[in-house]
Amino acid sequence: MDNRAIGVFDSGVGGLTVLREIIKAVPDESTIYFGDTERVPYGPRDLGEVKKFVFKITKFLYDKDVKLIVIACNTSTAAAFNDLKKHYDIPIIGVIEPGARTAVCNTRNKKVGVIATKGTVESNAYQEEIEKIDPDIKTFSVPAPLLVDFVEKSILEGRRLNRAIYGYLKPLFEADIDVLILGCTHFPLIEKQILACSGNGIRVISSAVETAKDVKKMLKERGLSAGKGKKPQRIFYETGISSNFFEVGKMFLGEEIREVIRTKLDI
Ligand code: DGL
Repeated sequence: MDNRAIGVFDSGVGGLTVLREIIKAVPDESTIYFGDTERVPYGPRDLGEVKKFVFKITKFLYDKDVKLIVIACNTSTAAAFNDLKKHYDIPIIGVIEPGARTAVCNTRNKKVGVIATKGTVESNAYQEEIEKIDPDIKTFSVPAPLLVDFVEKSILEGRRLNRAIYGYLKPLFEADIDVLILGCTHFPLIEKQILACSGNGIRVISSAVETAKDVKKMLKERGLSAGKGKKPQRIFYETGISSNFFEVGKMFLGEEIREVIRTKLDI
């Protein structure tokens, strides 16, 4: 039994979609969430720069004595997951491998589509994970930056959004994919719209749900689960000074965030 918190981080508030699934999967666990709202979005940035941010945030959470770290950001996972695992002695879970694994299990025609940020697409991280499991699967990835903008502006439905979704998905339909990975933590918020544009034959995979399943499994396997009956703590940090963490956070997390602690990262 281990009552220390799980650390979860993202470039901003998008990772709250992952936190929401973690809370559903392991409700007794305390959590510390870190959103780098001063530097969001990571998607258009150079991956080397993102890696620097990720190392700083991981150190911040490690110093808070978390027992497990979840990189609730695809771009950060693409930039730094493998290197982070070499540097830290606590378990670290990223969002790419769980989504890739589920896609491999679900594709029948071996054609998988991914929509993600520019950084994640250019890293080829999804393709590499998928090929590790089944080299015969073809992965087709499309950067969908406008969808991040829509979600950040709280535009979660409407004709303009649908048109943008369809524009990004069209080349994937033409490639005949039968599985679509939502390779960005913002996209579960518009999953319904994405599903509506995808048609019946396509299975949509959210990394958030799959990552939360991995968290539950890892805690159990390593004997790190919290004891039952104690109210779990929910702590939130952000780096931005004028972000709308409370408002947007409520929308992402599905429950109210009462306090967000402002902090700085020494970059
Ligand atoms: N959280 C990021 C991801 O999942 C999307 C937002 C950003 O570009 O920072 O890739």
